[in-house]
Amino acid sequence: MELLHPELDAYLHRLSEHGDRVLAQMEARAAQTRFPIIGPVAGRFCYQVARMLGARRIFELGSGYGYSTLWFAKAVADNGGGEVYHTVWDEGLSRDAQQYLAEAGLSHLVRFRVSEAVAALRETEGPFDIIFNDIDKEGYPDSLPVIKAKLRPGGALIIDNMLWHGRIFDATDRSPSTEGVRRATQALFSDPDFFSSLVPLRDGLVLAVKRS
Ligand SMILES: C[S@@+](CC[C@H](N)C(=O)[O-])C[C@H]1O[C@@H](n2cnc3c(N)ncnc32)[C@H](O)[C@@H]1O
Repeated sequence: MELLHPELDAYLHRLSEHGDRVLAQMEARAAQTRFPIIGPVAGRFCYQVARMLGARRIFELGSGYGYSTLWFAKAVADNGGGEVYHTVWDEGLSRDAQQYLAEAGLSHLVRFRVSEAVAALRETEGPFDIIFNDIDKEGYPDSLPVIKAKLRPGGALIIDNMLWHGRIFDATDRSPSTEGVRRATQALFSDPDFFSSLVPLRDGLVLAVKRS
């Protein structure tokens, strides 16, 4: 299902032109291979949240070949330095991400982990200013307690695909991925330790702040 009116989508993309050669290369690859990157509109939003929080430590779950990582690494660099964790269970994608981040001159800020992402987060010392979640959607509900434990008070959780291409609106869709998105949304919006908003950019981003 197309969630955004095509005119609105085109307008948001025009407003999000970035002129970055490496990001553009990664966007071209996503278009050619139909790889699900967050894209420039959501990437810009993630960069902005990271700048507003002055984030120095960011953990990403489900990083693919590093497109969202590059947006976060740019923010951390502009915040004065720090570290961004890139986690994916595919060695080839991790290698590709290392090349892209090196080409962008930011690989010194990124820690690359080839692992199941929630397990990697559990094993990594917190706290983090931002945790970004883009793993397989059936894994969203079980990831939340681990994320909460690793986020600093006042830190932000961003989760991608929270509109799941409109599948959440189809009551007959009881697939594990759709149910995962529904359950994670309910859990977050009813959790007194988080204050959450669903931002309908691209496929829906939840932005949740951990209460102090
Ligand atoms: C949606 S893509 C990530 C796109 C990336 N966030 C971006 O915008 O550039 C998710 C990636 O994470 C991997 N992945 C999914 N679930 C994972 C998990 N639980 N642990 C590690 N990697 C996972 C997928 O195989 C895929 O490469």
